[in-house]
Amino acid sequence: MPDKPLPRHLHEQNRISWNAATDAHNSHKDDQAGFLRERGHTLFPEELELLGDLHGKKLAHLQCNAGQDTLSLAKFGAIVTGVDISDTAIDFACQLSKDSGIPAKFICSDVYDWLDQAVKARECYDIVFSSYGAICWLSDLSRWAERIGRILIPGGRLVLVDFHPIAMIFEEDWSIQYDYFTYGEPKKWDDGIGDYVAVSGSALSPMGNLEGVKDFVNPHPCHEWIWTIGDILESVIHAGLTLNQFREYPYLNGEKGFKDMIEKDGRRMYPPANLPSLPLMYGLVAVKTN
Ligand SMILES: C[S@@+](CC[C@H](N)C(=O)[O-])C[C@H]1O[C@@H](n2cnc3c(N)ncnc32)[C@H](O)[C@@H]1O
Repeated sequence: MPDKPLPRHLHEQNRISWNAATDAHNSHKDDQAGFLRERGHTLFPEELELLGDLHGKKLAHLQCNAGQDTLSLAKFGAIVTGVDISDTAIDFACQLSKDSGIPAKFICSDVYDWLDQAVKARECYDIVFSSYGAICWLSDLSRWAERIGRILIPGGRLVLVDFHPIAMIFEEDWSIQYDYFTYGEPKKWDDGIGDYVAVSGSALSPMGNLEGVKDFVNPHPCHEWIWTIGDILESVIHAGLTLNQFREYPYLNGEKGFKDMIEKDGRRMYPPANLPSLPLMYGLVAVKTN
């Protein structure tokens, strides 16, 4: 089937909104280069477990934002390429790579354009990785998965850890507000991407938390697509990948996304005690078998 045209104007509004938010987010993080060079990394155990051994693996990190996770993956031995539409984020990532001395390639591009050029150039990767707030920015899930299938080597893996779409039905105060099924229709947020790093404090700033930008207001709206778990699994299967692992987690890593979340060990945020347990994140590994 021929590709549907992408809603480029919405991607562009998202780029502008992400540029503004990325500056605010980074204003809260202390000495990122020193932290990555000498003291630690920004990955969580969930993705490390699903990623497995990274040593010498050629890895594409899609929607890498300002590159902290990409450089962390490099610290575990991967040969990394980070891709993101936000020029502010990619400029920051390139500088962070220089300042920390951790080698990485960063490319500023719409993920769909990068995937197309990677297919055309016959690039091959052992692992394609994406995480934490990635899928909701994709306007065409089948096209994304199909292209990933084409750049993986036989035996190569797509590894995804993201927020569970069921979490997207809630307002910040846990009232049920939004449809689970949106059938590919984008949802516009007039208030753009917020400063969730300020709200989450040290849980999203393991390098040390600074006050940074106060009361950030994003003047640039953004557009999200809520893909269901069924949509995500189907896109991966239709791309010819074999589902190897699928996990659900009853907490959010690092992000205090909702009211009165309870922080437990490992920077895991759980719903308040008066709510039943809910799947708030999922993890997936899909393998290219031929
Ligand atoms: C929540 S962030 C992902 C953070 C990431 N897990 C990390 O390592 O920090 C979502 C990212 O998706 C990017 N993005 C949104 N739409 C995109 C598109 N069409 N192509 C490439 N990147 C896109 C944004 O610029 C943003 O950096």
